[in-house]
Amino acid sequence: EKGGYDHFMIKEIHEQDRVINDTLRGKVFEDNVKIDEITMSDEELQNIHKIHIVACGTSWHAGLVGKYILEQELRIPVEVEVASEFRYKNPIISNKDLVILISQSGETADTLAGLREAKSKGAKTLGILNVVGSTISREADGTIYTNAGPEIGVASTKAFVSQLIALYILMLFLGEKKNILSKERRKYIISELKLLSKKVKTILNNEKNIEKIAKLFENVNSTMFIGRNINAPIALEGALKLKEISYIHAEGYPSGELKHGPIALIHENFPTVAIATKSHTYEKVKNNVEEIKARSGTIITIASEGDEKIQDISDAVLYVPDTEELFSPVINVIPLQILSYYVAKSRGLDVDKPRNLAKSVTVE
Ligand code: F6R
Repeated sequence: EKGGYDHFMIKEIHEQDRVINDTLRGKVFEDNVKIDEITMSDEELQNIHKIHIVACGTSWHAGLVGKYILEQELRIPVEVEVASEFRYKNPIISNKDLVILISQSGETADTLAGLREAKSKGAKTLGILNVVGSTISREADGTIYTNAGPEIGVASTKAFVSQLIALYILMLFLGEKKNILSKERRKYIISELKLLSKKVKTILNNEKNIEKIAKLFENVNSTMFIGRNINAPIALEGALKLKEISYIHAEGYPSGELKHGPIALIHENFPTVAIATKSHTYEKVKNNVEEIKARSGTIITIASEGDEKIQDISDAVLYVPDTEELFSPVINVIPLQILSYYVAKSRGLDVDKPRNLAKSVTVE
């Protein structure tokens, strides 16, 4: 049932090139998108003035990326909140707001409570969910199914990538309904989305290199992940993946925060993973990498193919295929998942069932 792999986690990581296409299938066409499970009227959709995204854990990280996707393309304000905070803060929501619940299982107690809170305040609600017929799908006004297939590994991998793809689809959908995105722009975004599967496959084929880099974590007990803008949440996700399955302490930071505290942690046996792929803030991340190197920190960079120069300031470089910044989280999270897997595996840990964790958190 593990299809020849040692663990479900690595099997599911390897499914991701296919999952991307499964999430797109039936929803994304040449220049438009169709989402059958969204039953809101065009008028209701046009009325949306503000979006809230509510989720937990890895799904919350997808929401943080979603904020960038939706705000950058649609210029609609988006707030992202951890469900356990949202539900108890008497959130400011009106009937012109759309509240999006992201949940692989569709059963997470806090996320479900967030949905109920939003509905009680008159907002429209939308689930981005993997499990068909789950509680959130039954109670929300609409659903985008992520079609990732059952996820067995407790650490979420393919579900996360499918949530990101669903957020691009939602952006296209709202952009069309609200007349914000031109047909040309939609067509371009769709063509780029369709290229992602192949790019992810390239990284999966490069697994052996990543396994080698995992050796840099052998005697390490604390680490940091950094990134900027749309990849700042990917730094958080990289840190979460590593800590939950390898039990190595890992912090995730927007890299501009380094000087405001975490740089004090840097020493020889403290690796930092920096997401330094092509972006409008590439030079800034590179400066951060130099700052870490200057303090003798071990530095592993995720860089765009062709960026030879970054090797001069890195202890190891993980190259990923070039992609536009908007789509880079989908690409950049893959090597981080694989890295965590091999670090945990080399420690002989039960990767699929990390201690103290449950796959579905149905109690708060
Ligand atoms: C981490 C992980 C958890 C879940 C979180 C939410 O790898 O899997 O952080 O993402 O418990 O679960 P769902 O998405 O089912 O609501």
